[in-house]
Amino acid sequence: MVKCRVCGGSLTEFIDFGQQPLSDAFLPPDDIAGEFFFRLAVGLCADCTMVQLMEEVPRERMFHDEYPYVSSGSVVMREHFEATARQFLATELSGPDPFIVEIGSNDGVMLRTIDKAGVRHLGVEPSGSVAELARMQGIQVLNEFFEASSAVRIRAEHGPAQVVYAANTMCHIPYAESIFRGLDALLAPDGVFVFEDPYLGEIVDRTSFDQIYDEHFYFFTARSVAAMAERFGFQLVDVRRLPVHGGEVRYTLARAGVRTPTAAVADLLAEEAAAGLADLATFQRFAAAVRAVRDDLLTLLRRLKAEGRVVGAYGATAKSATVTNYCGITPDLVAYVLDTTPAKQGRLTPGAHLPVRPAQEFRPPYPDYLLLFAWNHAEEIMAKEQSFRDAGGRWILYTPKVHLR
Ligand code: SAM
Ligand code: TMP
Ligand code: ZN
Repeated sequence: MVKCRVCGGSLTEFIDFGQQPLSDAFLPPDDIAGEFFFRLAVGLCADCTMVQLMEEVPRERMFHDEYPYVSSGSVVMREHFEATARQFLATELSGPDPFIVEIGSNDGVMLRTIDKAGVRHLGVEPSGSVAELARMQGIQVLNEFFEASSAVRIRAEHGPAQVVYAANTMCHIPYAESIFRGLDALLAPDGVFVFEDPYLGEIVDRTSFDQIYDEHFYFFTARSVAAMAERFGFQLVDVRRLPVHGGEVRYTLARAGVRTPTAAVADLLAEEAAAGLADLATFQRFAAAVRAVRDDLLTLLRRLKAEGRVVGAYGATAKSATVTNYCGITPDLVAYVLDTTPAKQGRLTPGAHLPVRPAQEFRPPYPDYLLLFAWNHAEEIMAKEQSFRDAGGRWILYTPKVHLR
């Protein structure tokens, strides 16, 4: 029996994607031997309702000195994190000599605004590649994994933090108990832990099964986050929906009893109960919808190939590893993937081995179709590549259903 990583309850598996590679392990074309695979499957905890992966990939295999994902690649995300930093500066960080810690600070996309304001900060970032990009801008970074022991050291050196923040990182960390022990050591008595991650309610609504991959261990709801917080002496005191990355929720946690929960918490909990977000039947329906998308996408790509159309893809996202490998998208169906990230270019996508080409060099002759793997950046990318559309090119999307744009 596989046990819940939060509460030790028993997990019921509801979807199995089979053997999958590491989603960010882009391969040099001359060195494709020895790829690592694991079984990607998801289950629901019968006790605390946390939805999570059935199998855990060792963290050092995913987050290391060659981790390729850089947060600043999207203008929309840069603006999102600048606004987030400004909000912290105007609220939680407005007292005397405040201190903020960010878990998974990546290339410093959020902390650069904090640093410019002259506020004490520390990014905790285990991937040396991106930690260095932040340091080059003068941002303070500890090149380690955040866990109880690192948190205790940070507290001893810097004092208590008014805010600990994590974007698209909390869902990457299976060892919840150690994280909360760390938060307890590090946060000021009235400090807050604020984190934002893809929202399970949106994943179910949009059938965005590509949010499921090695790095995304947890799929949060207000209910499961509230239960997790309570287990470790904290309390969910605010929630806010965010439009980024295909629909996220920002959760604010405080020590139990210190702050009064906002009405938004009760509202979202009620919405989730009505949507059946803790019911196995909901996730079994989701699994059936995922299988239908896989079949429809493969049917479309095979038809386009038979008609002699040229199909490329856009965005060598971590998400796309699940799409290509689960659906069986091979280089004869999708010739290449365009991406702006230098560390991905000239390499092959994990498992499916589609070549990654520089998006900066995308120009005529255009392909007939582009499969949009980075659908969460659709507006930004489609605006940037308007000339592809003007030349008669069409975008293929696969959430919530396969359709053309
Ligand atoms: N916060 C950025 C954003 O939202 O764009 C980066 C998100 S990126 C998907 C996840 C980051 O978390 C990576 O840079 C990874 O190295 C880092 N990470 C993974 N496990 C971590 C841990 N235990 N402590 C701190 N950072 C971690
Ligand atoms: P993400 O969905 O995990 O943020 O990854 C987005 C990927 O798409 C990342 O590899 C960068 C790439 N990308 C482009 O190639 N062009 C763009 O305009 C944007 C916004 C992202
Ligand atoms: Zn549980």
